[in-house]
Amino acid sequence: MIRIDALTKRYGATLAVDRLSFTVPTGQVTGFLGANGAGKSTTLRAILGLDRPTSGRALVHDRPYSSYRHPLRVVGAALDAQAANDGLPARTHLLALARSNGIAPNRVDEVLDEVGLEGMAQRRIRALSLGMKQRLAIGAALLGDPEALLFDEPLNGLDPEGIRWFRALTARLAEQNKAVLISSHLMSEMARTADRVVIIGHGRLLAEEAIHALGPSLEEAYIRLTEGATHV
Ligand SMILES: Nc1ncnc2c1ncn2[C@@H]1O[C@H](COP(=O)(O)OP(=O)(O)OP(=O)(O)O)[C@@H](O)[C@H]1O
Ligand SMILES: [Mg+2]
Repeated sequence: MIRIDALTKRYGATLAVDRLSFTVPTGQVTGFLGANGAGKSTTLRAILGLDRPTSGRALVHDRPYSSYRHPLRVVGAALDAQAANDGLPARTHLLALARSNGIAPNRVDEVLDEVGLEGMAQRRIRALSLGMKQRLAIGAALLGDPEALLFDEPLNGLDPEGIRWFRALTARLAEQNKAVLISSHLMSEMARTADRVVIIGHGRLLAEEAIHALGPSLEEAYIRLTEGATHV
């Protein structure tokens, strides 16, 4: 389980995350919703130790993520599909991640299969399409068969078959008792995929609820809850 505890992150004068607390329980898909600039990506980076909190903390099984020797086996994350070293072939990139996290190299081919990139293994990352890069990022998250998974707008660039595949994947991960957190702006997809949602505005918690507690329309509930909490 992931626990965000009074997390605050300032960038100079910008208060990106403001005393935010919520949990990502195992066995469920948690949708992470909020307007552009609400602080979702900042929160995800704080969980991974990529951003240092100004105060508060984010804990993975009661420990900071950075304290794990093989972090990819604890939390897998697909944050920015553009971030990987793009001169490397897809398979080489995954092999390097596997090696540095004590993951068996044959897992790389399993994952390439799983994300539908088996035919793209030798292609350089920069030569992959947006959706293929997204699939590769999702593959990197799955590599260590981690107990928790973080996805930042994973549907960006995925084709209809890919969206359907990702929906089934996340349901399966939750069934395997993993903790799954997905940020997205696609309310209809989140309504289908998530068991519960965390909604933030201006870095603050607006709601942490089971999806059915928010009524028949997630979009309506989202608009109501975020009114007056948008940046743009
Ligand atoms: N590295 C940074 N330096 C300065 N300000 C930043 C930095 N990263 C984020 N911010 C600011 O922090 C706030 C939260 O940004 P964040 O990227 O977390 O939002 P988000 O909820 O992920 O938005 P989106 O839905 O557009 O992805 C914004 O005001 C943003 O401009
Ligand atoms: Mg973001």
